[in-house]
This record gives sequence, C-alpha cells and structure tokens, in this order.
Amino acid sequence: MSSKILVTGGLGYIGSHTSVELIQQGFEVVIVDDLSNSSSDVLKGIKKITGVSPEFLQFDLRNKKKVNQLFEAHPDISGLIHFAASKAVGESVNKPLEYYENNLGSLIYLLQAIEEKAKDFSFIFSSSCTVYGQADRLPITEEAPLKKAESPYGNTKQIGEDILFDNSRSNPLLKVIALRYFNPIGGHVSIEIGELPKGRPQNLVPFITQTAAGIHKKLNVFGDDYPTPDGTCVRDYIHVVDLAKAHVVGLKRMMSNQQSESFEVFNLGTGKGNSVLKVIKTFEKVSGVSLNYEIVARRQGDVIEAYADTTKANKVLGWRAESNLKEALDTAWKWEKKIRKS
Ligand code: UD1
Repeated sequence: MSSKILVTGGLGYIGSHTSVELIQQGFEVVIVDDLSNSSSDVLKGIKKITGVSPEFLQFDLRNKKKVNQLFEAHPDISGLIHFAASKAVGESVNKPLEYYENNLGSLIYLLQAIEEKAKDFSFIFSSSCTVYGQADRLPITEEAPLKKAESPYGNTKQIGEDILFDNSRSNPLLKVIALRYFNPIGGHVSIEIGELPKGRPQNLVPFITQTAAGIHKKLNVFGDDYPTPDGTCVRDYIHVVDLAKAHVVGLKRMMSNQQSESFEVFNLGTGKGNSVLKVIKTFEKVSGVSLNYEIVARRQGDVIEAYADTTKANKVLGWRAESNLKEALDTAWKWEKKIRKS
C-alpha cells in the first residue's frame, strides 16, 4: 500500500515540483491550497507529467474546523510537507499580523490535528536560509548561529522551526525535518510546471525571464559596490527539481526511522555561490537574449553573500543537487516563453 502524504501549498512553486516527485516515487498525494498565490491549472501540469491527478482541496488552513475535517476524512495520512505560507518579504513588513497569523496559525492547527491522531507522523517544514541572515562564515553550515530576522516573513520561519522543535519534544510520535532552502530557480524539465509569480516578481530569476520576454523594460541590479568579486551579491541558486527531490529523501528517512533526532535541519543548496552579474551573463548565453539591465542602489535588507555548506545533506540524506546554473536557467526561460505564448 502506498503512503498518503498531505502537501499544503502543493500547487505553488516548490509544492508543485515536490508533488510531482512524490507521485513519481509512488506516494499518494493530497494537496491543500487556497490558490492565493497559485492556480488550479497547475494540477493539469502535474497530471501531464505524472499521469496522476492528485486529490485537491481548496481551503485556507487558518480554518481550524476544515483542517480537522481533512484529517478525519483522511485518517491514513502519514506525512505532511508544509509549503503553504505567505512569502513576500516587503509585504510582511507592512502586514506583520497577517503574516504571523497565516504562517504560524496554520502550522499550529496542523500540528494540533496531528497530535489528535496519536499516530506516527512525519513532517517536513519549508524553512529558509534567511534564518542565517548575513552569516559570519561561508559556506553556511547548519551550525551557524541564527540571526535576528530582518522581516516578519523571516521571523515566521524561525518561529515555525521553534514551534516544531518544541512539539517534536512534547509529541513522541512526531518526526520533523526542517529544510532550509537557498535560492530555488527554474522549472520542471518537461516545461509543464514552473514559477508563476503573481504581480511584479521580487526575486531575481523571474524578473530576468520577464524582462527578456519584454514585460519589463529593464532589470534593476541592486548594487555593485558590495565586497564580492564583481561587486554584486552572491547567492546559492538551486534548481527547484533538485530541491523537490530532497523532500522525498527526507520523508523516506523519517518513515524508515533513520533519524538521529526527532527534529533535524538540513541546508538545501548547491554549495556554489553565483553573483547577480554571473546569473545575468549565464542567462544571456543560455537564451541568446541580451538583457537590458542597470545598476541601481542597494536593496534594503539584502545580505551580501550566502551559499550553503551541503556536507550534512550530502552525507546524512545522501542527496546532492545535480543541475547546474545553466540547466536551471534554461528551464526558467523555456517556461517563461511557454506561458507568454498561451
Ligand atoms: C529573497 C528574500 C528572502 C527570501 C527569498 C525567497 C529579500 C531581502 N530577501 O532572498 O528573505 O527567503 O527571497 O526566495 O527580499 N536582485 C536584483 N534585482 C532584482 C531582484 C533581485 O539585483 O530585481 C538581486 C538581489 O539584490 C539579490 C539577488 O538578486 O542579491 C537575489 O535576490 P532574490 O531572488 O530576491 O533572493 P534573496 O535576496 O536571496
């Protein structure tokens, strides 16, 4: 019998790619998504790739009654990957209460429903390298001290990890892995699913592809006077499919009781840092499009440099990122061209 896994936010960017990997690995997937930052069309993409249309429930996880009903209707759910959360850093500064309520309220309701079940349960939490802030040492290991969050969004990731850590101690049946993502980019190699930012993208790669597609006149590069080799910020860009695969590996680790502690964290990155200018140049090569960009002032809150030490994920999970920057950008560009045509 296959294991039934709940994927919250399963029609979102990372959630949809992870749902595909889960289905392809034989899991039965149930998706909950409120469509606040996604589209039900994504289901068609998942079906095209996997041949399976997972069960989809549209509701807001702040509705505690519905969360409980979901677990009652599916008593055989044995694991959960929790992607559903608001993620716009700037918006979180203006709407902190909304962010705390949405990102933490839903997490608490899910954990209460899981505790109620009183059965073995595996939980994967979408965390972020944002918890490290500007790390004192690079590459960043999981032991690096967490820095005070720059935004309510970042703080919800730190508090979310704390809630899960505390609950993993009080509920002996709960197993948790928090995955700290570096910068996910690109889309599925089939070009059936990809990133679908609502409104003006805040992240670099969707802004690059939209500029190349003619939606924006130019890309602003936020600062070239940082203490880095070319003066622009450095990040660890990881292909979203590699990231998605790590969730399945983590889930299997918990389900086969291989954890050394009931709460574990892993960095998910490639281990390699790339500057903004390097990403632009690589994109130009991959796409054949010359990008109109301009150096402008620094963006407030940006860390200078962040890339992962992936030793723990490599050794303990037996996982490593397989795609390089070129391959990831190639899928991002093909996806952008596809959605502009349709
Ligand atoms: C941002 C968030 C971070 C969040 C992550 C999710 C901020 C300050 N940080 O991280 O909390 O976890 O997204 O993916 O918003 N850049 C440009 N021009 C652009 C867009 C970005 O030059 O139009 C630069 C940025 O200055 C940065 C790099 O590109 O150096 C990557 O930016 P972005 O994709 O927003 O990711 P992060 O800053 O790492």
